[in-house]
Amino acid sequence: MAASIVLLTGAGISAESGVRTFRDGDGLWEQHRLEDVATPEAFRRDPALVHRFYSERRRALAEVVPNAAHQALVRLEQAWPGEVLLVTQNVDDLHDRAGSRSLIHMHGELLKGRCTACGAVFAWPGAMGCDSQCPACGGVGRVRPHIVWFHELPMAMDRIYDALERCSLFAAIGTSGHVYPAAGFVEAVGPDTRTVELNLAPSLVASAFHELRTGRATDLVPAFVDELLAGL
Ligand code: APR
Repeated sequence: MAASIVLLTGAGISAESGVRTFRDGDGLWEQHRLEDVATPEAFRRDPALVHRFYSERRRALAEVVPNAAHQALVRLEQAWPGEVLLVTQNVDDLHDRAGSRSLIHMHGELLKGRCTACGAVFAWPGAMGCDSQCPACGGVGRVRPHIVWFHELPMAMDRIYDALERCSLFAAIGTSGHVYPAAGFVEAVGPDTRTVELNLAPSLVASAFHELRTGRATDLVPAFVDELLAGL
């Protein structure tokens, strides 16, 4: 059975495509702390503000493209003989556009919406507002971004933990280790799993990894993938 790989990515892999990270800048949007916009309470309190926040990020996606790091992970998925599972915390579609298929968006996806009346999940590439209508049940004003907010459960956790327990290699790319459960994945792997962190700077959980490679994702990730494939 060929060795399996689990990859975890965070905002740092999209940074060089021009997508803002959460904690490198001032972490503000229109003078709102992100933690005050990306929450169920904020959506109940001021849905129009939250819709505006995500509609603006959805629109900005059209201006960015996948970078060499996204593309290198596709190469790995296509050439590696065993399973490669890419778990991303990012809600942008850059891994999707690069061609990753074995992909879990554990914090949801910017380009999807969800109906709070019927539970349907659907593509939503454009602006979303309080008067948006669910394409499945027709309900008006019940559509929300298909995003996992603070205090909400991330997606596909069973599938992720199963893959973590089985993998031979776990690599975390461009994530700061601030937010759980993703920051704890390095502790959920098996005793013989090789763990590597690739980041511009050590994350909060860097000490839990066997190996730390520091630099930009567009330099580190292609080199790392070349190394893995050369070792086949
Ligand atoms: N190359 C590699 N790493 C980079 C680069 C780069 N060019 N630029 C920034 N980084 C790293 C930073 O060093 C940092 O460790 O990316 C990480 C960005 O950290 P965060 O902004 O905290 O993003 P992330 O770890 O993805 O946040 C996790 O927090 O706000 C929530 O749900 C949100 O998914 C997000 C989660």
